[in-house]
Amino acid sequence: MARAPRPLIAGNWKMNGRRAAGLREARKLATRMRNQKQRRCDVLLCPPATLLAPMREALRGSRIALGGQDCHAAASGAHTGDIAAELLADTGCGYVIVGHSERRADHGERSRQVRAKAEAAHRAGLRAIICVGETAAERRRGRALEVVGEQLRHSLPKGCTAASTVIAYEPVWAIGTGLTATPDDVAEVHGFIRDRLRRRFKAEGAGMRILYGGSVKPGNAAELMAVADVDGALVGGASLTAADFWPIVKTCL
Ligand code: PGA
Repeated sequence: MARAPRPLIAGNWKMNGRRAAGLREARKLATRMRNQKQRRCDVLLCPPATLLAPMREALRGSRIALGGQDCHAAASGAHTGDIAAELLADTGCGYVIVGHSERRADHGERSRQVRAKAEAAHRAGLRAIICVGETAAERRRGRALEVVGEQLRHSLPKGCTAASTVIAYEPVWAIGTGLTATPDDVAEVHGFIRDRLRRRFKAEGAGMRILYGGSVKPGNAAELMAVADVDGALVGGASLTAADFWPIVKTCL
């Protein structure tokens, strides 16, 4: 049997994190990681762009990775306000989130654009965390798998590998709402995603990490992480403080 992928617990700070408080929380996490002997999972923080450089210093020696929350498809150029994957890499990032549902909703990003961003991430040597997930209305109409299948098909570039690509299943209705999908629903969608990844990317698809995201909290993380084909979590609100994020990390350490 193929070895299970090494879990990844990723914190997405979104548009939160003032310098003093944000770095204080990052330092607390870094200290806990440094004191941890067993590390059976990877840990990642994706702060707002304003904190990337100071956070790189705060996390030094902790083996907590740093990531961006979005990137532009181009390597450089006249794109005011955007960040190239190359610039994220240059700042010490190892990952970038692309296609988050808030980008899809707030900025009208379509899957083809998400694919171009994932290609940019790979070009710059970053791991791409590609997000997919259905809305409440789509789930009610019984279209969850169809929607996720379409997003996967169009958002993932050719040549994705287990090392270069992470998938995050985030049902839109569970993000920031306190609602989480039931373990059965999560198992169904993750199993579906695994099947699609295997078919398209063969052994690489079997080894790709599939994260669950949407109101993951210290109280529900262990149950969600125990579901088949859940290889970690993408955590929003509960990643903002070490007090909440560390117990989630501990479920995989
Ligand atoms: P949440 O966000 O944990 O606050 O629901 C998850 C995400 O959007 O990545």
